[in-house]
Amino acid sequence: MDQNIPQELVEAGRGYENLFVPALFKQWTKHLIEAADIREGSHVLDIACGTGVLARHALSRTGPSGRVTGVDPAPGMLAAAKEIEPSIDWILCGAESLELSDKTFDSVISQFGMMFFQDRQKSAGEMFRVLKQGGSLAIAVWNSVEQNPAYADIIAVLQDQVGTAAADALRLPYSLGNTDEVTAVLENSGFSGVSVETKVEPARFPSSRHMVEAELRGWLPLFDIFLSEAKINDVLIESDRTLSKYAESSGEAVFPTSAHVITARKD
Ligand SMILES: C[S@@+](CC[C@H](N)C(=O)[O-])C[C@H]1O[C@@H](n2cnc3c(N)ncnc32)[C@H](O)[C@@H]1O
Repeated sequence: MDQNIPQELVEAGRGYENLFVPALFKQWTKHLIEAADIREGSHVLDIACGTGVLARHALSRTGPSGRVTGVDPAPGMLAAAKEIEPSIDWILCGAESLELSDKTFDSVISQFGMMFFQDRQKSAGEMFRVLKQGGSLAIAVWNSVEQNPAYADIIAVLQDQVGTAAADALRLPYSLGNTDEVTAVLENSGFSGVSVETKVEPARFPSSRHMVEAELRGWLPLFDIFLSEAKINDVLIESDRTLSKYAESSGEAVFPTSAHVITARKD
């Protein structure tokens, strides 16, 4: 898989693993593992696995008698995932069309990917298809941006300094804050017992600059928004001011994040 992947994509994957995973994502894996009731020997699929933080936690539960598979359409993410944990099966594909057999997994888990799926109904159908009868599903999606105030602050700065397209790009991860849509697509796909629990976990970045700069240089370009160095500087000066309320004496930026953990069963 790794040989033909452009080096900058692999570097971007490693960058995600080193900055975003410890700051924002690692603290959520325990909720998904618990909600999906992953046990020794389980066969588990992590959809939108990124660099694999959730899949690795699942593997630590299933032990060698289990089996963990991670899927993601971003080759740089999967290359970084494979460097860290070669014993997981990493498969390059999107949630809408899983290259996996019917009724293969005891649990399907996915954290912070569903907002980006192009066809959520089709993705939910694929989750249902690959689960065994009696299998469990656990998905995490961010709560609304209003319930994630540090990101609401950055979005306000972007709206003011750059414009609506940039602000909307940062709003996308919070677009499933109202869980009616996810609940409906899961029920339409045949899932039973769909239930939602809303949880709060702290995020901890080395500094607010690390956090904002990663969004400006790493996230906005995915939407074809490329800022000049002067504009990046303006945004950072303004966001330093706005985010100073989250700064600890160490310089770290620490703030609460809120997400929904949605569980369901294939009866
Ligand atoms: C915010 S990251 C979350 C990654 C990982 N689950 C974690 O917790 O670190 C979102 C992931 O969704 C993936 N993604 C985007 N579109 C997707 C799709 N259609 N199907 C599956 N994954 C997708 C991205 O490539 C990215 O790795």
